[in-house]
Amino acid sequence: MQASPIGIFDSGYGGLTVFRSIADKLPDYNYIYLGDNARSPYGDHSFETIYRYTLECVEWLFAKGCHLVILACNTASAKALRTIQQIDLPAKYPDRRVLGVIRPTAEVINDYTSTKSVGIMGTRGTVNSQSYFLEISKFFPEIKVYQQSCPMWVPLIENNEHLQSGADFFINEYCSSLMQQSEDIDCVLLACTHYPLLLPKLKNALPDYIKILTQGEIVANSLVNYLERHSELEEKLAKNGKKYFYTSGDAIAFDEHASIFFGEDVESSSM
Ligand code: DGL
Repeated sequence: MQASPIGIFDSGYGGLTVFRSIADKLPDYNYIYLGDNARSPYGDHSFETIYRYTLECVEWLFAKGCHLVILACNTASAKALRTIQQIDLPAKYPDRRVLGVIRPTAEVINDYTSTKSVGIMGTRGTVNSQSYFLEISKFFPEIKVYQQSCPMWVPLIENNEHLQSGADFFINEYCSSLMQQSEDIDCVLLACTHYPLLLPKLKNALPDYIKILTQGEIVANSLVNYLERHSELEEKLAKNGKKYFYTSGDAIAFDEHASIFFGEDVESSSM
């Protein structure tokens, strides 16, 4: 059997912010990143559509030899992960694993709040799924969760308009709408892997005392821990430090934009 790369999936570019942290923490493994740019953003699609798109992409990564796939996308983690883990994997791929980004974040969120009141900013799909409410309440029932959907942010980021002054309106609107929900919020989770690109603006739009939490390092730490606990899977992984990038969209356009998220030049192929 050929050694297996780790698959990393997002609806578009956002998962590259998580991939950056994973590659920094675990540089020896081989990775295949897939962005479904042709069909992104996923945030406003129905459950059925997000599930279907995500499963197609996961199966494509399996066909490329991945035994482990990370959904580096909150929307896909919220809407598709459970069905894939509970129905598709046992029926068709019993030796493959798919992990998401919501549970690892929920597991550690308590470390970042003293008031036990957190704000969650995400896509409509993530917010409406109530996944963060459910996951956080499993680990920390005492934590109060306040949510704000930010449907304009992914389109602004995907079009590279997010740092222009025109973006300020939607940044301020969603931030103040979240903060109005409770004076106790002391930690805001960017529950969409695109949002770290907004950090310079969010630091101005949110009060100084707010701890802004991104997911890259959290997911990378959780993966380290997972691989330590699953040696049978870890042994199958290729370790030549190679990274491959694929997009369902246009590869030239992907390469132009992807480096902003990944922090280094990217050379992709169309899937
Ligand atoms: N990066 C995805 C997430 O974390 C973006 C979702 C979208 O495509 O709307 O939710």
